[in-house]
Amino acid sequence: MIPVITIDGPTASGKGTVALAVARRLGFHYLDSGALYRLVALKAIRVGVALDDDSALARLASELDVHFDDERIHLGSEDVSEAIRQEAVGVGASRIAVCPSLRMALLKRQRAYRQPPGLVCDGRDMGTVVFPDATLKIFLTASVEKRAERRSKQLIEKGFPVNISSLLQDLRERDARDAGRSLAPLVAAGEAIVIDSSDLSAKDVVEAIVSRFSG
Ligand code: DC
Repeated sequence: MIPVITIDGPTASGKGTVALAVARRLGFHYLDSGALYRLVALKAIRVGVALDDDSALARLASELDVHFDDERIHLGSEDVSEAIRQEAVGVGASRIAVCPSLRMALLKRQRAYRQPPGLVCDGRDMGTVVFPDATLKIFLTASVEKRAERRSKQLIEKGFPVNISSLLQDLRERDARDAGRSLAPLVAAGEAIVIDSSDLSAKDVVEAIVSRFSG
């Protein structure tokens, strides 16, 4: 059985940074499942597919020509690593995430990343839906203010403009949408270990996860 560590949590909880670091420490593969939703949203926006057209979105998802190349993400031959991090694309990803056929199309893709020697993945439903038999399940959270602060730093570093009050509002709306949808909502799996990272560094969280996994 190939081991899987799932790290679920709300947007900007630091799960991407932590999951990648845990994967590196263990020499495991890494899957950023949110990137898949963001890629479909980006493609839909570009080609003019409505963000509530479930069957058209599912088609886009199954035809998606995506390559994860270390920390860069390519759609066909284009490097879209920065483009998918824009807030508009994140909001689009959260919108399309309620579509059942789209989620089904992405399910198979996500499970295919379970390859030896192991996988660390992050998202919303990794522990509840995609890998219910995961070896270790983490639910990583942080206060909405702390998350807004972290996200604004990230955006500024990438050269995007930031308005903190609209960012806070975006995060709250996205939390409500991710947690409130009927299909694969954002919720901690019953057996998940809940970590509140509001007052922890990414390094502390990585240590806590690696020691749980090894112990
Ligand atoms: O983690 P993120 O902010 O990059 O994710 C973007 C959106 O994608 C998120 O608001 C909801 C959706 N998503 C999801 O529904 N299920 C996942 N496993 C990952 C992301």
